Amino acid sequence: MSTSEDFPFLDPANAPLIRTEIPGPKSRKLLEEQKKYETATVTYPNSFPFAIRRAEDSLIEDADGNVFIDWVSGISVLNMGFSGVVRKAVKEQMDLIWHSLEIPTEARINFLREFRNSFPSDMQDYKTVFGISGSDACETAINLAHTIRKRKAPTIAFEGAYHGVSGAIISSTSGTKYKKSFYGTGFETIRVPYPYTVWQDLNENVIFDHLERIMNDPEAGYDRPDSVIVEPIQGEGGYIVPPKGFLKNVRKFCDEHDLTMIVDEVQTGMGRTGKMWAFQWDNIKPDIVCSSKSVGGGIPISAIYYRGDYDEKLPTPFHMGTFRANPLAMAAGAQLLKKIPEYLDRVNALGEKLRKSFSDIGSDHIRDVRGKGFMVGIELEDRGKPMDSSKVTELKHSFLKNGLMMHTCGHYSNVFRYMGALNIPEVLNNKGLEIFESALRPSS
Ligand SMILES: Cc1ncc(COP(=O)(O)O)c(C=O)c1O
Repeated sequence: MSTSEDFPFLDPANAPLIRTEIPGPKSRKLLEEQKKYETATVTYPNSFPFAIRRAEDSLIEDADGNVFIDWVSGISVLNMGFSGVVRKAVKEQMDLIWHSLEIPTEARINFLREFRNSFPSDMQDYKTVFGISGSDACETAINLAHTIRKRKAPTIAFEGAYHGVSGAIISSTSGTKYKKSFYGTGFETIRVPYPYTVWQDLNENVIFDHLERIMNDPEAGYDRPDSVIVEPIQGEGGYIVPPKGFLKNVRKFCDEHDLTMIVDEVQTGMGRTGKMWAFQWDNIKPDIVCSSKSVGGGIPISAIYYRGDYDEKLPTPFHMGTFRANPLAMAAGAQLLKKIPEYLDRVNALGEKLRKSFSDIGSDHIRDVRGKGFMVGIELEDRGKPMDSSKVTELKHSFLKNGLMMHTCGHYSNVFRYMGALNIPEVLNNKGLEIFESALRPSS
């Protein structure tokens, strides 16, 4: 059992620290036990075959005492790492209360205040509704768009988008009071390309021509949509950065056609791209913002921030869920919302440096380096094609054996993504780069 005296458990200057083969004997035993009891469908242990003992900031220690550099941050859930700030806030809140339904606590009000403060000055009249996960947030946002118009209509979503995997269980729930919105009625989607030009020539003009056809050509066969859901940078889709002004053009398109603009900031938000919210890069005002992941510092929560005037069009109850806005997440989130702005300049400067370092590796396996802030994608190829995912997994395992946790994403699962914590010591970026570079160069 670790105690607070054990921290810091390793000086970053001495990381990574590899003492055994990976997985080591204790990890192997726990992985075997997991297989015995847990569904065979777990996926992350395939990418990172070890068992975790503890973590601090940007270091993760496995069951055998090996210490890894964390470039994953729980998929952008730990934007300040396994932070002492979160540990302290959660411990203090735990001594007060850790479940309160929707009844206000000081932690909840602090969170709501800080959350609103994190948005630009022209979005200070927006309201917040809580959820539990990113999927829950995106589902609620689309439901909100339908509910304020009192009708269901398709939502425009992009190729390569990831907005989560959620259910439609309300269709099995009885009680008309729960059914005044559009959950469980099966959302309809009109899918359009996202501007991605590495393996396809999907430029913005083609996309907006297509969008106009959807709205204006009755022979094209589309039902009129009511909303657009868009990631400012595609996350799971491959860390795809659209051209500057893309969101501004989506906003203009939504205004011209009276569509609700939903921006999914689940992965891009909370400072990840070097702005608090990535839509700020295009200086726009979304109608609804979906946030989750880092908003609770690792305690599950999501928060949907929507235009204040929508409030009067919503039935009560609107969104349900016993565990929404857990006080521990509220306490942790309020601290993070205050802390993250201090790191944005750092993230922009170091993010640019990282992109240059990845590009300078000069491997002919590196097809593209892209990103913003600490959301950096390195797309790999092999003889003119996307690198085969089995080869990518081999690379991922070789990074791990050398002490670096780095994950992948993308249509072809061939994009390595840097998701370091915004406060990661620079020495851990440099050491991670050495590990990455030595596996990629000389190219074979
Ligand atoms: C942009 C985006 N939206 C939604 C989600 C879904 O979040 P969750 O896994 O918490 O349901 C994710 C998860 O990775 C995401 O990246």
